[in-house]
Amino acid sequence: MVNPLSSRPQLIAVLAFVFIALAPIVVLSTQQPPYLSPPQLLSDPFLQLPTDTSVRVVWFTEFAGTRHSVAYGQGLRQVAIANTTKLTRTREDQKSRVGEQTEDALVYQKPTPRDIWRHEAKVTRLTPGQRVPYQVTSVRNDGQIVKSNPFTLTPAPPPHTPLKILLTSDHQLMPMTAANLQKVAETVGNVDAVFLAGDLVNIPDRASEWFDDNRGGAFFPALQGHADYKLEYNNITTRYTGGELIQHAPLFPATGNHEVMGRFSTDSGLNAQFNDPIPRQVAAEIYQQTSSLLNPNNNPNWLKDNSFNTDTYNEIFTLPGKENYYAITFGDIRLISLYITNIWRTPSLKPNAKGRYREREADLNNPTAWGYGQHIFEPIKQGSPQYNWLKAELNSPEFQQAKYKIVMFHHPPHSLGDNIVPPYTDPIQTIERDRKGTITAVRYDYPPQADYIIRDVIPLLETAGVQLVLYGHSHLWNRFVNSQGIHFLESSNVGNTYGAYLGEKQRQVPEGKDYAATGDPNGLEPILPTIAPLRGEDNQPLPYIASNDITVFSILDTSTGIVSSYRFDTTKPDSDVIEFDEFKIAPVRRVR
Ligand SMILES: [Fe+2]
Repeated sequence: MVNPLSSRPQLIAVLAFVFIALAPIVVLSTQQPPYLSPPQLLSDPFLQLPTDTSVRVVWFTEFAGTRHSVAYGQGLRQVAIANTTKLTRTREDQKSRVGEQTEDALVYQKPTPRDIWRHEAKVTRLTPGQRVPYQVTSVRNDGQIVKSNPFTLTPAPPPHTPLKILLTSDHQLMPMTAANLQKVAETVGNVDAVFLAGDLVNIPDRASEWFDDNRGGAFFPALQGHADYKLEYNNITTRYTGGELIQHAPLFPATGNHEVMGRFSTDSGLNAQFNDPIPRQVAAEIYQQTSSLLNPNNNPNWLKDNSFNTDTYNEIFTLPGKENYYAITFGDIRLISLYITNIWRTPSLKPNAKGRYREREADLNNPTAWGYGQHIFEPIKQGSPQYNWLKAELNSPEFQQAKYKIVMFHHPPHSLGDNIVPPYTDPIQTIERDRKGTITAVRYDYPPQADYIIRDVIPLLETAGVQLVLYGHSHLWNRFVNSQGIHFLESSNVGNTYGAYLGEKQRQVPEGKDYAATGDPNGLEPILPTIAPLRGEDNQPLPYIASNDITVFSILDTSTGIVSSYRFDTTKPDSDVIEFDEFKIAPVRRVR
């Protein structure tokens, strides 16, 4: 017998083999930082874009990893391989509350990129109406395997399937969001889908707001039952976990103002960037005047970087089509989600206000510092691409034949809340100058007769037989019915209400302007809750809930067409959830 290492050539061959075999490990260990913590996913998986036979499973990690996959079906015997992408805009900054940073700038002194990878697997060959188990697996770069708990998935439900849909909005890590979603799970169990009318977080590029804000109320944890948010009343602290909802049910969002980042910067804080969008047209004009100076490298994203973008939102969610508006059939529902939102600016008329009605005095001669009023991010006015798309969608067989015709967008068409004023229209700019031509004031007006939602959108919805319009933005619950029978529901009461303006309470509107200080500016009376309205100080029933203590959620049950709204008093953690309102959506008379 020959000793395998006795000859020199053989020894060299073995050494070479060992070296080649070990080389990748050596390279890996020098490239990757050592892992101190056990492997974990940054989020649980959630469901997106169901079709008749498939659904997408999406999750996030803080390592690139390998072999990201979904095991599903009976015995988890089928496997779908994930496609991995890296989020391009997620950062932390001085205002983040993440990890060790419990005060401003303890860890991050400026916006700092945070590496997050997104994994998406298309789970196919599913049977309509059948729910099956699934579990996701990611393999860390050091070979460690991490798995989620098992959850369940199902493709888009066939017609006539009874469904429970959560109607919600404006989560924004608000104090009552985790309690709200926990009560959803406790009250109705698994929902079949979540319709979320915008404002998912506050600052979309701040990663921790989605995944791991250290105050315990980030977006995914609250919708996945992993929140850890404490509310204290009378020295009693209650900890809320949110609800395990979107691991089992698809989430359909609308784009709210808090999905939009303003002008990109590597220096200014993320809050400042969020508050710094300018209209694309203005950015284009600046660019045309000075393109060689401003964009010497011909960056194709220059216009977006120097106006506004929804990159993080678009990178996190997989929604139908390429725009921020879409339609989808889900069981008996045809849902249209529109991109109807504008930048929020202060109503203040003070000299230092970069507001909805005026520019800051200090900025008058510096148009690049102007805010351009409450400008609209995506046109919806008659003739715009979104308007034309909506018109075609409303005329489609999918929409016309649907039992439930629902439209969702962020900005309120009818509301007692604050943010319905001024009207939803392009700001009309007036520049005042003195005799020498120096600018003395820049003002903005919003003609009520040009409110695009009321003037252009609602007539289309009336003609098409839409039954329910869902929206948010003012952080209260109230509802309305118009003369055609369309129901309007604003269900966004999770913990920092901007109040309800009825009777004595007046919105802050400039003198001499035709903007409604009280009531619904668009002329509808609020509907009193049908079961158990709250009562005001005069013991009269209130047609709204605008509270920082009492949170509200609404559920559509497609087996009956009934939308039920529930309230929960977080100051009484042991109290029951109370159903306080019900209405039924049914075919409505069409306007011809
Ligand atoms: Fe909003």
